[in-house]
Amino acid sequence: MSSPEAPTRPAPPTIGVFDSGFGGLTVLRALVQRLPRARFAFLGDTARLPYGSKSRRTIARYAAQSAQFLVREQGAEFLVIACNTASALALDAIQDAVPVPVLGVIEPGAAAARAASRSGDVLVVATDATVQSRAYSAACRALGLRAIEKACPLLVPLVEEGWTAHPVTDQVIRIYLDELNAEAAAQGLRPDALVLGCTHYPLLRPLIERAVPPGVKVIDSAESTAEAAMRLFNGRAAQFAQSTGPETEIRCFATDSVEKFERLGSRFLERPVGSVELIDLGG
Ligand code: DGL
Repeated sequence: MSSPEAPTRPAPPTIGVFDSGFGGLTVLRALVQRLPRARFAFLGDTARLPYGSKSRRTIARYAAQSAQFLVREQGAEFLVIACNTASALALDAIQDAVPVPVLGVIEPGAAAARAASRSGDVLVVATDATVQSRAYSAACRALGLRAIEKACPLLVPLVEEGWTAHPVTDQVIRIYLDELNAEAAAQGLRPDALVLGCTHYPLLRPLIERAVPPGVKVIDSAESTAEAAMRLFNGRAAQFAQSTGPETEIRCFATDSVEKFERLGSRFLERPVGSVELIDLGG
């Protein structure tokens, strides 16, 4: 007589996490802390980075293709867009391209600024495209905050170069922040929070914290995005909790520079990224 089959536990749903590069691994890190038994598929579109200097149309095309890869080929049931530029300029295009819930980083970043600021005035540093979109200003305004934004285009290449503690990077940050603070003062603002509106910037956090005026809190949207993701996954929380996986399963994909991703990615994720799979999304 055959013994009754043991009830099989559900496999955890796959969460797709997307960035133009590997900065979004800071968001993945925050998700892994909250969902240690989930499955994650992370895609860095490293062949087409930076998104931050491109047009809305191009960013939307690249981001939609990347989202489709995660949903169609990796079976992602949720997408977290761990890229400020794609969130600011292409969230609607991504949502139109895939039939699963999509979460960006802009609203969670603004919500974290709202929680941190007493004066109601906040500073935002981001890529050129994000700043031009004014997405942060709109999200902050919706929460009763006044935001002043500054594009810092040199910071992504400096992080990509691995110069996260370099004196040149320190100097560049100080120049950008001096300009931003002068602009805020000219507009009569009294900012007490600085939003890191680019997923590369948390790697510069120690330098940035030393460069901001006293009393200005530095806000990284990774934590608040992970909190927002938990609310989005709420209906599936029991499935995540009961799933069988002994530990987190992470598969990383990149469209170029796999070795660089493997080398630098572990700094962002704060654990080894393992072997990164190279994929081709076309032009
Ligand atoms: N991931 C982008 C962001 O968070 C920065 C890198 C890029 O420009 O593509 O805005």
